[in-house]
Formats: sequence, C-alpha cells, structure tokens
Amino acid sequence: MQLIALVVVSVTAVIGFHFGWWEGRKFLEIPRPLDFLVVVDVLLFVANIGMTIWKAPKMTTTSIVLFFGLLMAALLYLPGMIPTDHQTHDAFWLWWVVHLWVEGVWELIMGAILAYLLIRLTGVDREIVEKWLYVIVGFTFLSGILGTGHHYYFIGTPSYWLWIGGIFSALEPLAFLGMAIYGIALAKKGGRNHPNRIALFWTVGCCIMAFVGAGLLGAAHTLPQVNLFTHGTLVTAMHAHMAFWGAYAMLVLAIISYAMPILTGRKLFDTASASFAFWATNIGMVAMTVAFGVAGVAQVYLERRAGMEFLDVQRELQVHFIGLILAATLFTSGVIAFIYNFIRYGGPAGDVEESLSPGAAATAPAE
Ligand code: HEM
Ligand code: HEM
Ligand SMILES: [Fe+2]
Repeated sequence: MQLIALVVVSVTAVIGFHFGWWEGRKFLEIPRPLDFLVVVDVLLFVANIGMTIWKAPKMTTTSIVLFFGLLMAALLYLPGMIPTDHQTHDAFWLWWVVHLWVEGVWELIMGAILAYLLIRLTGVDREIVEKWLYVIVGFTFLSGILGTGHHYYFIGTPSYWLWIGGIFSALEPLAFLGMAIYGIALAKKGGRNHPNRIALFWTVGCCIMAFVGAGLLGAAHTLPQVNLFTHGTLVTAMHAHMAFWGAYAMLVLAIISYAMPILTGRKLFDTASASFAFWATNIGMVAMTVAFGVAGVAQVYLERRAGMEFLDVQRELQVHFIGLILAATLFTSGVIAFIYNFIRYGGPAGDVEESLSPGAAATAPAE
C-alpha cells in the first residue's frame, strides 16, 4: 500500500508538472491535493518501520533515533502546507520543511543508518558506534535548528536572523565532521573483515562526501557576508549537488549494496560493474562540483562585483557547462553500472555465476 501511494504521488506529480499543475514553490512544487497523499504515505512508512522496531526483540539507540527522525520528517512536512498570502511568510515556512529536513531530521536518519551499517560491516561494538550517534544527534540539534536562519538573510525577515543564522549554521559542519570521523575511524579499526567491501566503500564514501559537500561547501557560503554575494548563484548549485549526492544518494546506495546480497543470496559485490559504479559516480560528482564551483565563482565576480547583466554572464559561463556535461556523463555511466548490477541481483537463478544459493535467488524479491 505504501509503495502504491508513493508511485501514485510521484508519477502524478511528474506528469502534472509537465502540464503546469504545480504550486511554483521551489522544492515544494507538488499541488495541494498530492500533499495530503504524501502525508498519508509517510505516515504509512512511519507505521511500518515503527511496528518493525516495536516487534524487534531489543530496542536500540540506533532504532529509536531512526524512528524519531522519520516521525519528525512526517511532521515537518506540515509547515509547508500552512496557507499564507505573503511571499516572505511563504518562504519562511518553506525553509522549515526544506532546511529542517536536510539539516535536521535527515542527519538523524543518516546517523542511524550509518550506525547500523558500520556495526554490521566493521564489527565494532554497538556501544562505541552509538556513543558517536549521541554526539551527532547533539550537534545536529544544537546547530541545525537555528541554522535555518541562513535561508532568512534576504527574504524580508528581521535582521537578527543574520546573526542567528550565521552563528548557528557555521556550527553545522560539526555533525558531518562527527559522521566522517566515525565512518573512517571505525572502518580502519573494525576487526571483522566483511566480504562486502563495496558496501563499506559506499558507507565510508557517504560520510566523506556528505562532510565535504554539506559541511565544508555549505560552510563556504553560510556567513551572511559571503552569502550576500553567492546567494542563488551556481555556488549554491555546487554545494547542493555534492551535499545531496553524499548525504542522500550515497546512503541509499550503501544500504542497497549491503542488503542485496543478503536478500538474494548472490555475491555480486566483487564485480567490475559494482566497483565501476562507485568510482565513476564519485569521480564524476567531484568533477561536476568543481565545474559548478568554478562557474559559480566566475558568476559572482562578473554579475555581483563587475555588475554585468545576468544573461551576459550566463553566456560567459557556457564553457563551464561543457565541463559539467563531460563530468555528468561519467557520473551517469556510473549510475547505469549500478542499475545494471542491481538488475542482475534480481535475475532468474542460474543466470549469475556468483550465485550463493539458487533457491534463495529464485524466490527473493527484486527490490
Ligand atoms: C545533507 C545536508 C545538506 C543538503 C542536502 C543541502 C542542500 C542544499 C540545497 C539544495 C540548497 C539550495 C537551496 C536553494 O535553492 O536556495 C542549499 C542551500 C544552502 N545550504 Fe545547504 N545542504 C545541506 C547542508 C548544509 C550545511 C551543513 C550548510 C552550512 C554549513 C549549508 C549551507 C547552505 C546555505 C548557506 C544555503 C543557501 C544558499 C543560497 O543562499 O543560495 N547546507 N543547501
Ligand atoms: C547528470 C547529472 C546532473 C546534471 C547535469 C545536473 C545539472 C543541474 C543544473 C544545471 C542545475 C541548475 C543549476 C542552476 O542554474 O542553479 C541543477 C540543479 C539542481 N540539481 Fe542537478 N544535475 C545532475 C544531477 C543531480 C543529482 C544526482 C542531484 C541530487 C542527488 C541533483 C540535485 C539538484 C538540486 C537539488 C538542484 C537545485 C540546486 C539549487 O537550488 O541551486 N542533481 N542540476
Ligand atoms: Fe539550510
């Protein structure tokens, strides 16, 4: 039911979007009736996960942090539905959803899933991993909530947000630094040598890319003095791509890489396509980030220092987009390799040499 609700919402939203059925609010584009379906869908998701945790023999810090993160994600969708007739109020609530999702609750969900993966893949004691999880949750609450202010600098909200947003959002990288340290340190320290190396690569890669993309590149333009110049330029796109890739996409790919061999009984993690997927996507994404970054800095200078017209600047920047397309091609080839590997996991038994147990492979679901 959860899957059906998700498919209905997303397919309707994408098709509707192309026919002009949308709200026109960045990131919260979907029209109001679909918003209600999203709430239903997320509540179903929370209920499914909640029941699973409830029925588990032992409730752990990791599972509680995961559940609380998901519940908050559901509740924090609601501010985006508050009706207003003022653009400032609208933007104010919009960032409750967008910012508090990515720099608040997602860090809880991410910390919990990373904790799970690290415990499983490195064999380090749960106590040690969960001690780090507390640190991450602490830093997230301390910095991420008031850090919302970094979106309130220039939208018509009172000027005290310059101070609040600047100070608290400057602390936000600490939570990501915490995740990077625990990912790298535990992977090194881990006594157990788990055969699924590629899942560990995705896990540690997720910690590193999220720290660089969200923590470092976010901090690069989070002070109001800097953001005054970089706001809404390709500098933002530079940060946005690496942050989303590192913190969201890589985490999902890590858990898929970990779960698929267990679900299907197939040992496809040692394959060339699995390694290629990891390296091509990540090198491609780093190159994309560099292309966006160089274009962004050039845009800031030409448009906001030299005072050139927006479209004249865009013409000057065209060359960087050629670089972006090349980098994106490498990135996309890696994504295709990942999908190829994923489909092979679901193929009929016997098709895959590395099959551990054909029986398990034949009956296992493809996702
Ligand atoms: C997983 C974590 C993160 C994700 C996915 C993420 C993603 C994004 C995205 C998509 C935007 C563009 C919003 C827009 O269109 O205006 C954005 C903007 C911004 N982010 Fe992040 N971000 C993350 C973490 C951080 C952190 C930790 C910081 C600060 C240390 C930060 C600082 C900023 C700032 C200052 C902006 C506003 C840019 C502007 O004024 O145009 N972000 N982020
Ligand atoms: C084939 C690879 C990709 C290409 C060529 C690409 C290109 C672009 C371009 C040109 C923009 C508009 C930038 C601007 O004018 O400000 C954009 C925006 C955006 N893209 Fe991508 N993208 C790619 C993959 C991704 C992926 C994998 C993610 C997430 C994981 C992503 C997330 C975003 C977001 C959040 C924005 C809005 C950023 C902002 O608010 O400034 N993109 N992308
Ligand atoms: Fe933010």
